[in-house]
Amino acid sequence: MQITAAVSRGPESPFTLETVRIDAPREDEVLVRIVATGLCHTDLFTKAALPEAVGPVVLGHEGAGVVVDVGSRVTGVSPGDHVILSYRHCGDCRQCRTGGPAYCENAHRLNSSGRRADGSATLTQHGEPVRSAFFGQSSFAEHVLATADNIVVVDRSVDLVAAAPLGCGFQTGAGAVLNVLRPESDSAVVVFGAGSVGFAALLAARSAGVATLLAVDPVPARRALAEEFGARAIDPGTHDVVGDIRAATGGGATHTLDTTGNASVIGQALSSLRARGSAVVVGLGEPEVAVNVQDLMLSGKTLRGCVEGDSTVQQFIPQLLALHAEGKFPFDRLVTEYRFDDINGAVADQKAGTVIKPVLVW
Ligand SMILES: NC(=O)c1ccc[n+]([C@@H]2O[C@H](COP(=O)([O-])OP(=O)(O)OC[C@H]3O[C@@H](n4cnc5c(N)ncnc54)[C@H](O)[C@@H]3O)[C@@H](O)[C@H]2O)c1
Ligand SMILES: [Zn+2]
Ligand SMILES: [Zn+2]
Repeated sequence: MQITAAVSRGPESPFTLETVRIDAPREDEVLVRIVATGLCHTDLFTKAALPEAVGPVVLGHEGAGVVVDVGSRVTGVSPGDHVILSYRHCGDCRQCRTGGPAYCENAHRLNSSGRRADGSATLTQHGEPVRSAFFGQSSFAEHVLATADNIVVVDRSVDLVAAAPLGCGFQTGAGAVLNVLRPESDSAVVVFGAGSVGFAALLAARSAGVATLLAVDPVPARRALAEEFGARAIDPGTHDVVGDIRAATGGGATHTLDTTGNASVIGQALSSLRARGSAVVVGLGEPEVAVNVQDLMLSGKTLRGCVEGDSTVQQFIPQLLALHAEGKFPFDRLVTEYRFDDINGAVADQKAGTVIKPVLVW
């Protein structure tokens, strides 16, 4: 079948809408018509990292849509089902068997090799393979091939536009708090970077009844929204971030989350913790951070990385939708809709910080 996709052709080129051919679903695959796709910073990080020489690429990993066709061996998913797509995992390795599918030992092959696990291409153009199967979806496209392990069937009443980012950005922030940091009502939680991941974390902490919430971000509109959500906001450009946090929390935060991937900010996330506090890092940014083990870590602090909020998607995404239905996790407030053919406008606005979570509507 011929479909339209937003194709990436190198770090410097804008996305271009092109016609590509998508395979028919194999026996374990599901063909999904995409309704909406969130734009995640990881799409842009990956685009920037793939040289022009790899040829055309279709990214996108926050797809949501309607099932069109299912392969003969697929169970639990039927044509007409409304679905949210997330990351792939094998289900068989040690990580998958012990509750850590986000750390699947086959994650690279399944999510970012650019092909199916057997090496074949799901998308082609003029008979040549197009790099695809990104997070088992490549959802910057009208249709995708997914598999049961990265599909969450949802109620037809769910707004697929607002809910699409649950598959990555929103579950990453919410899961970093609810699954990893697990703060209590008397905790003091600080989020560094009030973007889509940071706001999902902030809302999740609020839903858990955390008394003291703080958000650090240089963008005034983002600080204003954080305050609207009940957090105290700190401008890192004009304030002594660590000093302010220590003062506001009576000695230091119990839990911090860095979403910036910036080494000096990760230093602040560790320095602003009180003894035995925990910091989680999720950002794709500077790969190395110098940590003063004596001053920062020997007071019993923990520094932990986290992928996809440690989420087991078939459980966690319904849990987040239930919180949303109760009014406790209003992720729809973070979303701005764009027509799919305005993907480059969405990228520009996200970079400029004028929108938090752009979602392309197909
Ligand atoms: N680990 C995972 O599973 C996972 C999943 C999704 C996204 N990510 C990564 O998480 C990161 C955050 O994603 P996002 O979509 O929220 O990005 P984003 O760009 O929306 O948010 C980052 C925020 O950091 C703020 N910031 C910049 N400098 C700062 C500073 N010095 N102090 C405090 N804040 C500062 C920005 O203003 C922005 O609001 C990205 O690197 C993304 O690739 C990781
Ligand atoms: Zn696995
Ligand atoms: Zn993502």
